[in-house]
Amino acid sequence: MRKKKLGDAWVPPIDVLQCFLNDPEIAPDLNLNNVNYNLFADIIGIFIFASMGTSSNRASYALYELAKRKEYWQELCQEAQEINKKYNGNFKTFDNIDKMVKLNRFIKETFRLNSDILGLPRQCLNDSHYTFMNGYQIPYGRIISLDFLELNFDEKLQGTNPKDFNAYRHNSSVTKLDRNYLLFGFGKHACPGRNYAITLTIITLHHIMLNYYLRTKFENAVPRTHKGFFIGPIKPYESSIENNN
Ligand code: HEM
Repeated sequence: MRKKKLGDAWVPPIDVLQCFLNDPEIAPDLNLNNVNYNLFADIIGIFIFASMGTSSNRASYALYELAKRKEYWQELCQEAQEINKKYNGNFKTFDNIDKMVKLNRFIKETFRLNSDILGLPRQCLNDSHYTFMNGYQIPYGRIISLDFLELNFDEKLQGTNPKDFNAYRHNSSVTKLDRNYLLFGFGKHACPGRNYAITLTIITLHHIMLNYYLRTKFENAVPRTHKGFFIGPIKPYESSIENNN
C-alpha cells in the first residue's frame, strides 16, 4: 500500500474507496491480508442498491407518466426537438441538459406523485428524549421516519389540487433541495448522486421521445406498487414502447 511506502509524504485520495479503507472495521492495519472484504462487499452492494435501484426505478415511473400523459407530448417533444437541433443531436454538458426545463419539471412532478410512503429515517440520540415543536416526544434510541405522502399531498405546500398531476406547479429544478420536496433528502446528508440520477432520467426520456412512440395499458393510472413503505418495481410487460420508424 502506498501509505506504507511513502509515509508522511502520502496524500490520501478523496474518494469512496479511501473512505472505506479509513474505516478500522474494514482495514484495521493497512495489511492487504487483513481487509474485511465481506463488509466491504456488503457496503458496495448497499451503494449499488441505493444508486442504481433508485435511479432505474424512478426513471421507469417517469417513462410510465410520459406514456400516459399525452397532453404533455406536444410541448415536451417540441422542447426535445429544439434542443436536439441546437446541439446537432450531440449535447454533452450539464448546461445543455439544464435547457430541458419542461422535461425537468415533468420529472419533478412524476417523482412527487410516485414517492415512497416513508423515508429519511432518523434515530434519537438525545440523552433521554427529543421534543418536537408540537410537543410530541420520542425517547433515546427511537427511530422515526418522515411521512412523504403527507408532505407531497399537502395543499399548503404543493399548491391547489395536490393529488393531480400538474408539471406547471414547479418553478425550480428537481435536483434543488427544498423543505417541501424531500425526494433527495435535505441538509448535509442530502443525496450526492441526484444530478447523476436526474441527468440519466432526462437523457433516457429525451432519446425515447425523439425516437419512439409510447403507449401504455395504464391510461388512467400508473401501476404504483407499495412494498412496505417503498414503492416497489413496476412490471415492464404490462406496458410497451413502440418504435416510431
Ligand atoms: C432517483 C434516484 C435517487 C433517489 C430518489 C435518492 C434518494 C436519496 C435520499 C433521500 C438520500 C438521503 C438519505 C438520508 O438523508 O437519510 C440519499 C442519500 C444518498 N444517496 Fe441517493 N438517491 C438517488 C440516487 C443516487 C445515486 C445515483 C447515487 C450515487 C451515484 C446516490 C448516492 C447516495 C449516497 C452516497 C447517499 C448518502 C449521503 C450521505 O449520507 O451523506 N443516490 N439518496
